[in-house]
Amino acid sequence: MLYGVDVAKSRIDDLDRLLLRQSSMEKATVLDLGCGSGGMSFKLGEAGAKVFAVDIEDYSKEFSIKLDLQPELKGKIQFIHDDMNNLASILRGQTFDYCLFQRSLHYLSYEAAVSLLHDLNKLVTDKMFISVTGLESDIGKSYPARTAVLSKRFAKLLPEEAKKFSIQAPLCLYQKEEFVDLLEQTGWKIDSISTSAFGNHKVVCH
Ligand SMILES: C[S@@+](CC[C@H](N)C(=O)[O-])C[C@H]1O[C@@H](n2cnc3c(N)ncnc32)[C@H](O)[C@@H]1O
Repeated sequence: MLYGVDVAKSRIDDLDRLLLRQSSMEKATVLDLGCGSGGMSFKLGEAGAKVFAVDIEDYSKEFSIKLDLQPELKGKIQFIHDDMNNLASILRGQTFDYCLFQRSLHYLSYEAAVSLLHDLNKLVTDKMFISVTGLESDIGKSYPARTAVLSKRFAKLLPEEAKKFSIQAPLCLYQKEEFVDLLEQTGWKIDSISTSAFGNHKVVCH
């Protein structure tokens, strides 16, 4: 695996639950970025939302199998196989009430993250539910770029850790304060922030 475990395939977490509990979910539009095989895209669809799910890996077969099993969701859930760095051209001005962006932003360089979060701030009209892997997490312990400044912090894990965590792609890991700065400088206002036992920073922002 290049990009780590598809957690949403097997379970939801507290951040997912917060999004699912938004009162207007049955009329909402949601952008699920780095959606994996669509675990949360389908939960959101079942809650009534219209979902636009984007991933750089091709999960179209998984989406189509699940849609055949839940035909009532056809027309509500759309999978786009593309790089989120191309988001502005993929969406062509489309806007969303919410964005779910779980466990994926750290696969972009810091420069690309700044640009994408800036664009998202214009495209998401209500809230974003976002998490990144922290520099102080287990993954960060032997991360080769842990002392690099953010603009140069983009490196692959050492071979043993890459295998252990199923992450072969380069990463930019964040301290909590750095993640807060990144969100604020790209126009986001933070409603809540927490760090999981594993060391992922989870934010609700608008
Ligand atoms: C750890 S998985 C997270 C999947 C799911 N969101 C979850 O929370 O379990 C990271 C996902 O980000 C996707 N991804 C990584 N870089 C991407 C990019 N540049 N554009 C779109 N998706 C990307 C990967 O393919 C992978 O499905």
